[in-house]
Amino acid sequence: MNVLIVSNRLPVTTRVDAGGVTVVPSNGGLATGLRGVHERSGGLWIGWPGVPAELPTPIRRAIDQRLAAVGAVGVPLAAREIDAFYQRYSNGVLWPVLHDMLDHPAAEPSDWEAYRTVNERYADVVARRARPDEVVWIHDFHLMLVPRLLRERCPSLRIGFFLHTPFPSIEALATVRHHAALLDGLLGADVVGVHTRAYAARFLDAVRALLGRATSPSDVEDGARRVHVRACPMSVDVSAFEARATEPRVAAMASHMRRDGERLLLGVDRLDYTKGIPARLDAYARLLEREPSLRGRVRLHQLAVPSRESVPAYQALRAEVESTVARINARFGTREWTPIEYRYGCVDDVTLSALYRAADVMLVTPRRDGMNLVAKEFVASRVDGDGVLVLSEHAGAAAELRTALLVDPDDVDGLARSYSAALAMSAPERRVRMRRLRSAVRRHDVFQWAREFLLALGGGGAALVGRSAG
Ligand code: ADP
Ligand code: F6P
Repeated sequence: MNVLIVSNRLPVTTRVDAGGVTVVPSNGGLATGLRGVHERSGGLWIGWPGVPAELPTPIRRAIDQRLAAVGAVGVPLAAREIDAFYQRYSNGVLWPVLHDMLDHPAAEPSDWEAYRTVNERYADVVARRARPDEVVWIHDFHLMLVPRLLRERCPSLRIGFFLHTPFPSIEALATVRHHAALLDGLLGADVVGVHTRAYAARFLDAVRALLGRATSPSDVEDGARRVHVRACPMSVDVSAFEARATEPRVAAMASHMRRDGERLLLGVDRLDYTKGIPARLDAYARLLEREPSLRGRVRLHQLAVPSRESVPAYQALRAEVESTVARINARFGTREWTPIEYRYGCVDDVTLSALYRAADVMLVTPRRDGMNLVAKEFVASRVDGDGVLVLSEHAGAAAELRTALLVDPDDVDGLARSYSAALAMSAPERRVRMRRLRSAVRRHDVFQWAREFLLALGGGGAALVGRSAG
């Protein structure tokens, strides 16, 4: 059975310039994680091409062709819809609330209208494309109304929805004026999936408290239907990361990165205020302050992927991170030694794997994160059984990766102590912890995640069986 994937972000993003139309791989966990599942399932992926719809017809045709070549179908969004639906409502209002951050702007009525209109357009496109023998799998917070809108258009379709962010507290959700419509939108699905049991419990609580619906431990009543709520932790393509980690060019690049015996701490994130980067950097400065013997002997390599660059909060974060890096490098750096190597941009797969292999300590310290696939990519890449993972207790991944060094991402002192403990950890302890982390990640890779969800939805999972690493 085919799976029709629907998300605002497609696996590729379109670029239009003087040279014509090209597509590049999209950033972020949804795109990187689902890409392999899409390739194996053989169905279509419906989403936004990444550029405004106001383009000459020949260019629009060229975009459609590029997308068709990778099994994708574009949903056109006008420039003003990108601003209102994507930048202001999805990223400005919903994103902070979903991460329990309450200082979000109030929604303008016109932004909510745009959210609704775009969700309707998605439902129309999916209704036209979905075949009766397909299951439809809708992803993420941009499209919370689509399950209900699609159910109205195609009552007998099997519809699944997966939320890639945390599910927030009732108090946070209730601050959004349209919370009831958003929750009701989700209940158009047959199965609603989230990363952890804690998020599933919060979802059920919210449905009871804010919609007054009856629930059982894993179901919600929706008229004559029952909506199944399932905790399904997303993962990564473990076999692909393992295979790449053992390539000779990756090993060569990794040993070059570990130059002069320096110990390497690594951060890899989209540049997002949920990722806890400022406190992570401050804690590194605190470590260098407290342990001067480490100066010249450690280095923090921080990769920051550009994200949502037209949203003001992201512009402010970039300025804050870059001035913090400059301040720490000016304070502790010498002619021979730069304490923080910061890169704003993407790296290719081989470089990413080499960094994961080279790192002594991986810093994954989000203030809140639905799952965090970087933590799992790091573990999957450590075929050598070494390396220490410092992991925020507020990342969904912490529910599975219990032998990481778990930290409070806002506690700068505590973070500095954890970095110190990670650097001082004995080889036998590192190996025991990493063995447990690896067995957790190998047991449940991204194909297992998709298979579990699709089996719960009643189709499609079988096509993905047999690819699990564990
Ligand atoms: P989110 O979904 O919030 O972006 P995740 O940690 O789940 O966070 O996923 C991030 C994805 O982006 C991972 O697959 C990671 O490998 C990728 N990524 C992060 N930083 C970079 C970078 N500098 N270059 C290439 N890929 C990156
Ligand atoms: O974590 C939520 C999420 O939607 C990811 O799944 C996605 O990869 C990331 O945010 C990127 O967001 P955007 O589509 O805005 O680039």
